[in-house]
Formats: sequence, structure tokens, C-alpha cells
Amino acid sequence: MKRKILVTSALPYANGSIHLGHLVEYIQTDIWVRFQKMQGHDCHYVCADDTHGTPIMLRAQAEGITPEALIERVWHEHKADFDGFHIEFDNFYSTNTPETRHYADDIYLKLKAAGLIEVRSVEQYYDPVKEMFLPDRFIKGECPKCHAKDQYGDSCEACGTTYSPTDLIEPYSAVSGAKPVRKASDHYFFRLSDPRCRDFLKRWIADPRHVQPEAANKLNEWLESGLSDWDISRDAPYFGFEIPDAPGKYYYVWLDAPIGYMGSFRNFCDKLSTKNGQPAETIFNEYWGKDSSTEVYHFIGKDILYFHALFWPAELEHAGYRTPTGVFAHGFLTVNGQKMSKSRGTFITAASYRKHLNPEQLRYYFAAKLNSSIEDIDLSLEDFTARVNSDLIGKYVNIASRSAGFITKRFDGKLAPISEPALLQQLQAAAQDIAAQYEAREYGKALRDIMRLTDLANQYVDENKPWELAKQEGMEARLHEVCSASLNLFRLLTLYLKPVLPKLAANVEAFLNIPPLSWQDAQKLLPAGHAINAYQHLMTRIDPKQVESMIEENKASLASAPSPVRHAEKQVHETKAASPSPQPSDGTTSHSTKPASGQVAGYPQGGEGASVGAVAPLISIDDFSKIDLRIAKIVNAEHLEGADKLLKLTLDIGEEKPRTVFAGIKSAYAPESLIGRHTIMVANLAPRKMKFGLSEGMVLAASGSEPGLFILSPDEGAKPGMRVK
Ligand code: 2FM
Ligand code: ZN
Repeated sequence: MKRKILVTSALPYANGSIHLGHLVEYIQTDIWVRFQKMQGHDCHYVCADDTHGTPIMLRAQAEGITPEALIERVWHEHKADFDGFHIEFDNFYSTNTPETRHYADDIYLKLKAAGLIEVRSVEQYYDPVKEMFLPDRFIKGECPKCHAKDQYGDSCEACGTTYSPTDLIEPYSAVSGAKPVRKASDHYFFRLSDPRCRDFLKRWIADPRHVQPEAANKLNEWLESGLSDWDISRDAPYFGFEIPDAPGKYYYVWLDAPIGYMGSFRNFCDKLSTKNGQPAETIFNEYWGKDSSTEVYHFIGKDILYFHALFWPAELEHAGYRTPTGVFAHGFLTVNGQKMSKSRGTFITAASYRKHLNPEQLRYYFAAKLNSSIEDIDLSLEDFTARVNSDLIGKYVNIASRSAGFITKRFDGKLAPISEPALLQQLQAAAQDIAAQYEAREYGKALRDIMRLTDLANQYVDENKPWELAKQEGMEARLHEVCSASLNLFRLLTLYLKPVLPKLAANVEAFLNIPPLSWQDAQKLLPAGHAINAYQHLMTRIDPKQVESMIEENKASLASAPSPVRHAEKQVHETKAASPSPQPSDGTTSHSTKPASGQVAGYPQGGEGASVGAVAPLISIDDFSKIDLRIAKIVNAEHLEGADKLLKLTLDIGEEKPRTVFAGIKSAYAPESLIGRHTIMVANLAPRKMKFGLSEGMVLAASGSEPGLFILSPDEGAKPGMRVK
């Protein structure tokens, strides 16, 4: 029976680049969608950029552009990354659109009519300079527990304690640096504590089709500890949709984000409607109408389960829409067993990966690691290289490359009939089991089964040795049959791998001269006399150097770049069940805001200015304060044997033990001239292992296009260890 399925992936926040952490989900979803399409089902995959909220508003201000211009630019970047990884959305849209506004207003007004919206006064921190309320992540101060300075308003990165911004000692606004004041204002709440919501959610979660068992446990815990009402409004200034009957109040970004699934789908329905003539409204209602018999699935990260499996179904139910058929959560990505890290170079963006490596190889590796659970998955770069080279190049591609040439050269490109089809039948018989694994999102199991079949196919080629048959007289017919059987085996393996490797499969289809493979084609074989095209190289093995250069590039380019923030108020502090939030998968650590007044970025021009490049993109005071600059006394400086550029410096910054830093200043300074001088060093740069030993920081030096290198000196009176800020 032809199913009608609508699938979504979480909407990426339009404030940063797509990275490998995001791609776990898009690849997982895309494989599932491609599989459903191969089954012949009507499956639509929609997504959009999630565009509203404070971080985007402030970032646009910092860049001196409108939020609309910012989200437009990011949309194109995201789209290029998705295309590069063969993520084939049927519609990739934006939440800042009339469609999303329409459904947001519709849902809000229906919830209001149902008596589920309530207005209450809320007291929050307010930035008197910037004249705005501050989300928790935009308030900083001293941790009340461990007294680390400059911690965010929701949690301490030094000791891990979570708290509310009012607990911070000496709080300050991360936007302007001003001391925030407490101020009350009216907020709009969705009354999740209403018994109608609670009873509905209890029933909804109890249905095992809706959420995975681990998710149901977590959701029930939250339900049992009692749900509080959800604050769905934010005050101006805010980039978002103004609430219809509440001037100056905007929907909180998390209210309209999932509604963006509907907005994107509605936009897609308009496009479908012009093709098939059916009214867009009718198509939309078929999927979102109350008693819809179609299926709707949301793929998400486990950190946003609360929004998708509590708020979202409760909203839909009480606004008269259907609720999701299933919410599928996945775990986070680690790289080499650790959280992605900029200093280790493992915070890898999609764009950087694409520059160095083949996206389908990552699709294969992620698929091999994915299952239907919420467990985290690890990208071990060594294992990635070994597995891709062994499975895809060594085993799979090898089957075609060893057989195709003979068919082209000796048999005019035409295939022979197969007299011993047992192995082919064995491969064909696996179609149902492999389909069941894909359907259940058990991709790791599916690929293990496919690789077992690939081993059998290789064994067949090894045993029949076409390269030897080719040399023996009278073995023409046997050679023809063995190569034809091998290519038939290869075709079946390609069919099974197609959801994971769509581009490769398209190249194979072109080489085998066949129409796009669908799942039911597994029951067919290439007939005798079928003409193939000449074999083209299908995939190149990974050279570990490619991985190394990607890591090095990420170390260099991302070490100083700000991490993107997702929604600044990810913590659901409105709920009684304290924040459910596991760590966001993108390693959120900072945000980009406008520089504090007085810090003017400009281009040195004319006068005595050196000829230099343009000033780097703006950063905020928050970004700058991450760099710990200290006065250092050079207690020793010496040459290093075998080093052309480096000097070994021993620096006192008031610590128990002096630091060793290898500095590239040999061309400009004799070591003895440096001893006893004071200079400035970056004290919190990750230590770097070099040929000569560990370098524990960096000294600053000026240089331009003319020769010359100049280290810095503080004014008289500065002491080792003093902070430069
Ligand atoms: O967590 C995030 O990055 C959000 N942008 C996800 C939104 S998913 C959906 F609700 F739109
Ligand atoms: Zn702390």
C-alpha cells in the first residue's frame, strides 16, 4: 500500500554554520526518506532555517546589517552545505515567512480561544543601556558556587553548576557590559499545567509508536514532576512575529520554530498544487488535519525532546491539528571519543569537510554507526578512514572494477545469461530484511548485512578469477557469465546502498545503463544482451593526509572564531521539572554581539600607517574577553638547534613555574637582547606540541607587508602576570 509520509529534521538555527554534529541528523533523516521513496511511497521531506530570536537580532546589529539580510545569507550557506551532502529536501524554507506567521497566529488564537493562554507579570534582568530584556545566556557574572568569573546566566562552564541568572555574583550584560536591573513586564503563557494538557500528554507518551522507550521514560519523569506553564512571549526589541493582539510582544522563537515545519510544508503544497492542480489547502489538510490518516515524523536531537514531545503535541492537539505519528530522537556526535573541540580541530564544519573529503563517505560512516536508539555516536577518524577504505573501496567498488572491463572489451558491453543464479537469488532474498532494518532506522545492522553480502560477492569473483579465465583458451563463455553475474551482484548491492550513497548509485545506474533503481527492482536481474556503458572510476580511497589537513585547517580557522549560539534560552526554566537540557550538540559556548561602545574597528589609512589587509570581521567584547593576555617577563631566550625561525623563550607570568614558548621571532631578535624584557603573551592558548617540545602560549608581535617583526612592550610599572584587557 502506498503510504503518505511527511518527514522533518530539526530546523537549523540561522546563526552559524552547519557542522558534523548537525549532519548526523540530516544524514539519518535523508537516508530514511530516500528509502521510503525507493519503496514507492509518497514521502515529503521539509525543513527550513530557524530564523528568529535575540542572537540573530544582535548578530545582525553587530554586522551592521538587517536580520533579514543575515538570514538570507545564511540560508544560502546552509543550502549549499545540504546540497553538498546530498540532503535532498523537497522544500528548504525559512520561518520568517507569511506561511509560518499564519500558522503561528492560528495556533496561538485557537489556544487562546480554548482558554489555554494566560498573561502574567514576570520580573527579569533588563539591560538599561541597550534597553532590552536579557536572555539568560546574555547575562554573565561570577559563579555562585566556584566563583569563576564571566560565567553565563544559566550554568557555569568551570564547575558545571546550573542556576538562574539572579544567583550570579556581580552580574553584567554580555551585550553592553552594563549592570542589569530587575524589571517586570507582562508575558504570555501556554497553560501546560492545565489538566487537559497533562492528561493528553500522558496518553500520547504511552503509545510506543510516538516516542522511543528511553524518551518515554524521560518524558514521564518530567510529567510526573509536574509541568509548569510555558512562557511563549518576549518583549521588543525582538526579531520575530508580533503577537496579534499584543503590541510590543513577540512569539518566543521556540514557539514558531516547530510551526516552521507547517510553514515549509504549506509552501511546498503551493508548489505541488501548481503541478497537480489539487488545491494547496486540501493537500495541507490531508497531512495536518485533525483526523489525518497520513504519517508525520520529526527527526530531532535528544536535547530538544522537551519541545517536540511535550509542548508541540500539546499545542497541536488543543489547536485542532493532528499530532506527530512519531518523534525520533538521536544522540550527540563525539569525535575521537570527545566532545567536538575547536582547539583540537574537531569542530568540523560541513564546508570544511567538503573541501577535503567525499561527503558520501561520511554518510556511509554515520549510517554504519546509527541505530534507532538515543545513544551518542562517535566519529573516530582513524576508524572512519579504515572502514570506508575497506568496505567501500576494498570490497564494494572492487566487484565492479574487476569485471566491467572484460564485458566492455571482450563482449561489446553486452551481458550473458546466468546459468547458476543461486548467489544472486541469495542476495535478492535479503531485500526484505534489509528494508526492515532501514524502516526501523537500524542502519548499522542494514550495512552489516549488506557488507556480508558484499563479502560473498567478492568471494565469488575470487573463486572464479575472471583475470585468469581471460587468459585461458576456450573459457570465453565462462568469463562472460562470471563477469555478468558479478555485475548483477554489484547492481543488487548498489540498490541496497542507494539510500546511503545516492550519488554513487546514480553513477552506477549510468554505468550499468539502467533507470533509477527502486526497491522492487531487487526482484529483477539485468537480462542477457543488456548493454552497459564503459566503467568509470567510482570512488577514491581516503588518504589519512586528507583527514590531517582538514583537522589542521579547522584548528587554524576556528580556534578564534565564535561558536554559533542556538536558541539563547534553550533551558526550559519555565517548567517545574528543572531544565531537561542535556548539552546542545553544537558545543555552544559563546555568542556574537555588538562591540561595546568606544571600541571602534577601523582601517588604518594614510599617515604613518603600514600597508595592511582589511580589519578582521567584528567580534564582541565577549569574544575578546576569552583571550587571556598577560604581561610576561622574558627570563630566558635561546637558539634552538635545527630551527630556522624559532627562539625558545622562558616566560614568567607570576605562576609557580615559568612557561616555555617557541616564538617565530629569530629573524628579528638576538636572544640575549630579549632577556629581562617585559612583553605580552596569550596565556590561555591551548598548549601545542612542537618538534622541540610543548609550547605553552604565544607572544604577540606586529608585522606588515614590509619586512620587520616587532614584539610588544608594556609601559613602565606593568608586572609579570598582570592581565591586559
Ligand atoms: O535547537 C536548534 O538548533 C533549533 N533551531 C531547532 C528547532 S527544531 C524545530 F522546532 F524547529
Ligand atoms: Zn562554577
